[in-house]
Amino acid sequence: MASTGRRFRLVAALLFSTLILPRSLAAPTTNKSCDTIDEGYRCSPEITHFWGQYALWFSVPSEVDVDAPEGCSVSFASVLSRHGGRDPTMGKTIAYGATIALIQNSSTAFPDEFAFLKDYKYTLGADQLTDAGRQEMVNSGAHFYQRYKKLLKENAPFVRSSGQDRVVESANKWLQGYAQAAKQSSPASIDVTIPEGAGINNTLSHEICTAFESGPADKIGDAAQDIWIAQFVPPIQARVNSKLGTNLSTAETIYLMDMCPFDTLSSPTARVSDFCRLFTEAEWHQYDYYQSLGKYYGYGNGNPLGPTQGVGYVNELLARLTQTPVQDHTNTNQTLDADPATFPLDRKAYADFSHDNDMSAIFAALGLYNSTTPLSNTSIEDTTATNGFSAAWTVPFAARMYVEKLSCEDAQEEYVRVIMNDRVVPLEFCGSDEAGRCSLSAFVESQSFARGGGNWDQCFADSVASSRS
Ligand SMILES: *[C@@H]1O[C@H](CO)[C@@H](O)[C@H](O)[C@H]1NC(C)=O
Ligand SMILES: *[C@@H]1O[C@H](CO)[C@@H](O)[C@H](O)[C@H]1NC(C)=O
Ligand SMILES: *[C@@H]1O[C@H](CO)[C@@H](O)[C@H](O)[C@H]1NC(C)=O
Ligand SMILES: *[C@@H]1O[C@H](CO)[C@@H](O)[C@H](O)[C@H]1NC(C)=O
Ligand SMILES: *[C@@H]1O[C@H](CO)[C@@H](O)[C@H](O)[C@H]1NC(C)=O
Ligand SMILES: *[C@@H]1O[C@H](CO)[C@@H](O)[C@H](O)[C@H]1NC(C)=O
Ligand SMILES: *[C@@H]1O[C@H](CO)[C@@H](O)[C@H](O)[C@H]1NC(C)=O
Repeated sequence: MASTGRRFRLVAALLFSTLILPRSLAAPTTNKSCDTIDEGYRCSPEITHFWGQYALWFSVPSEVDVDAPEGCSVSFASVLSRHGGRDPTMGKTIAYGATIALIQNSSTAFPDEFAFLKDYKYTLGADQLTDAGRQEMVNSGAHFYQRYKKLLKENAPFVRSSGQDRVVESANKWLQGYAQAAKQSSPASIDVTIPEGAGINNTLSHEICTAFESGPADKIGDAAQDIWIAQFVPPIQARVNSKLGTNLSTAETIYLMDMCPFDTLSSPTARVSDFCRLFTEAEWHQYDYYQSLGKYYGYGNGNPLGPTQGVGYVNELLARLTQTPVQDHTNTNQTLDADPATFPLDRKAYADFSHDNDMSAIFAALGLYNSTTPLSNTSIEDTTATNGFSAAWTVPFAARMYVEKLSCEDAQEEYVRVIMNDRVVPLEFCGSDEAGRCSLSAFVESQSFARGGGNWDQCFADSVASSRS
């Protein structure tokens, strides 16, 4: 017996050394944290990259090489960033907590992958960044610095933030990550914070397009989503209810799906939540499509007042690219933009911090997704195949659009490129080449929608009509 025991231990030790030890010796390659500076979020990508705007940032694959082409150097870099991962908004956190309570007090069973729900404690907060979301922004600042360090060594970015707490905190975390990467002793400060609220002109936060805020345009995204919900949720709802013995509604079924990204974000290391395993890969694709519909029809090309609300920012971008004063009569604040202290034109690097909805409108104003096939509200499509549109590819947490100018040996004029979450966006509308570049003048010319005012008068069409009557 003893010798058998010894032999067992020997075999076990051998097994341990061949199977376990080499792996632990190889720790630096296998010790993968989920969120990284270079690739962003990389755990279970077949699920985690399909959470719409609730995805943690990840580096999107690019058909065009994202590095500057041979013979070119970057002469200008700007970033428009979403805030990092956060807790659910106030209304949602109450609804999610109630859904968990309802499951816990009405389930007849917690089988298999549902077992953890029995003792799950709902502790999510509301509205603010989570630690994992803060880390996303630190990583984002380092990512920007690493990409553009040659330019940035002599040219610190001018930084603006929209005024909400989580956006301001995101900008500061980004500056912290930037300072760490640049080996600076302390981070720089935000240069301008623009408050959010009714009646405030803020190109980083929509509020003043009256016809949108109080009219039917605001409901178009929800309506498109509702049609898709009626298609994709019932089978999921039936499965969950039959497993748990509950009677969850369609909305409560979606809340259970929302818990996956939010519970992941509440883990300081952003460990993939147990909620995520309640649903299949195909179901996550359907969920991602649901979120994409909301952005496309709520704020993007699918909304008649979507692109209009992004025009002010585009005109500011054109001013920076061409170093000429801002020409805009939409939501820019002309007092801020006329003052070199709050809107300098001679900088070579800029960073702006905002929200997903505002960024969706800005991308639409730029025309970046003009060639995307309009999204169907009844059948799922791989929208990333038609010019890279999905909410997870455009506005995940810590999303970032880089607009860069390249100075190249082969041309007198500078070029412009747009890089969406590390993916080079083909700029067909200004005749971009194989490197995704348009000449600066062709790019400026292509932006006639913004330069021409972007139908801003439509924002007040109703009030004009009623004040006439
Ligand atoms: C593993 O990753 C953690 C978190 O990124 C890091 O602090 C630690 O040093 C890493 N360990 C090894 C052995 O690489
Ligand atoms: C179960 O939880 C729901 C949601 O919080 C609540 O409305 C309901 O009253 C609870 N029912 C029981 C029997 O505790
Ligand atoms: C424009 O900015 C100035 C300076 O910050 C501020 O005093 C003013 O209230 C702003 N106006 C609007 C309409 O947002
Ligand atoms: C759904 O799509 C159809 C076909 O494109 C369109 O006619 C309809 O207006 C859409 N409905 C909503 C609510 O989005
Ligand atoms: C389930 O909920 C629906 C409304 O959401 C209700 O009409 C139905 O009676 C409920 N069924 C049971 C068995 O409680
Ligand atoms: C704010 O925007 C409105 C609407 O375009 C415009 O009439 C007003 O002049 C702007 N105010 C400032 C300070 O730029
Ligand atoms: C995108 O499409 C809109 C609507 O057709 C158009 O007004 C705008 O000029 C287009 N943008 C670009 C950059 O081509």
